[in-house]
Amino acid sequence: MQHDPDLQAVHLEQRGIDARDAGRHAEAESYFARAVLKAPARPISWLGLALSQIDQQRVSAAIASLYRARDLSPQSGVVNHLLDSLSGTTSARAPESYVIWLFNTYAANFDNHLARLAYQGPDMLRRLALRADWCEDKSRAILDIGCGTGLSGLPFAPYASRLDGIDLAIGMLNQARRRAIYDDLHHGEAHAVLGAMPENSYDTVLAADTLIYIGDVAELFRLVATRLKPGGSFLFTVETGETGFKLTQSGRYSQSDAYLRDCATGLFAFSDHIEGTIRIEAGKFTPARAYRLTRL
Ligand SMILES: C[S@@+](CC[C@H](N)C(=O)[O-])C[C@H]1O[C@@H](n2cnc3c(N)ncnc32)[C@H](O)[C@@H]1O
Repeated sequence: MQHDPDLQAVHLEQRGIDARDAGRHAEAESYFARAVLKAPARPISWLGLALSQIDQQRVSAAIASLYRARDLSPQSGVVNHLLDSLSGTTSARAPESYVIWLFNTYAANFDNHLARLAYQGPDMLRRLALRADWCEDKSRAILDIGCGTGLSGLPFAPYASRLDGIDLAIGMLNQARRRAIYDDLHHGEAHAVLGAMPENSYDTVLAADTLIYIGDVAELFRLVATRLKPGGSFLFTVETGETGFKLTQSGRYSQSDAYLRDCATGLFAFSDHIEGTIRIEAGKFTPARAYRLTRL
């Protein structure tokens, strides 16, 4: 068994994953590098190698590793999305398999991880509600798109007559369920779930830190507008972009204010927005905007 190169690679991959989880990125890279030497036809080893190289900002090396992974697994949404993001290609949105992989991996530690990053998304949306003088009278039907573990639903529970969530990652939904603040939790892709919902269902729709995985938001805006009642509110955050929408090396998208206004034309009025920073990564603040749009 010890002489089976695949089993040896699996063992090295696990040590690489453990080292990466502990933040020992160079050590992780050395385990994955040994794994690809043992069993060069395992895309997962090449992916692990690429991730540990990304962690060390070694972009060219990561791209080379990702090409090897893609040769072995051409359909992998994870590999293709990482390659797009590192090579400056902007796709319309992150593949479902990427989102599922990323957030099912994160789910158990998500809240602690986001606390370490000083995550502000839910608070930015809550400030917009406070600025609009909303009463905590449990009167609104609220939908939380990309609800994750429920961090974004939490500050809105006092406003909600019902609170529903949508998320692609079952691991995140399982955490959200434990909070016992949601009425319905829908497992699926946001566009598909919204498309199957009746029109005029909600007073408020939230999307905290979700549009960072949906670059092209034109269709999402149209779906949200029709699922909102007239006069209803759409509260969301974006990472601040300069023009259009753009996939960045972080694997996330940014959107510009002008692009968002274009997408909202004929559907929403721009009622309020605030500028801020949504998290701190590697010592750097990530500039973000939170918007409150009103359905026309
Ligand atoms: C960064 S988390 C934010 C979670 C939560 N809103 C919060 O503020 O903590 C983004 C969430 O959006 C979900 N997500 C991303 N793209 C999605 C899509 N197209 N459809 C449904 N959920 C999506 C992910 O699974 C993840 O749980």
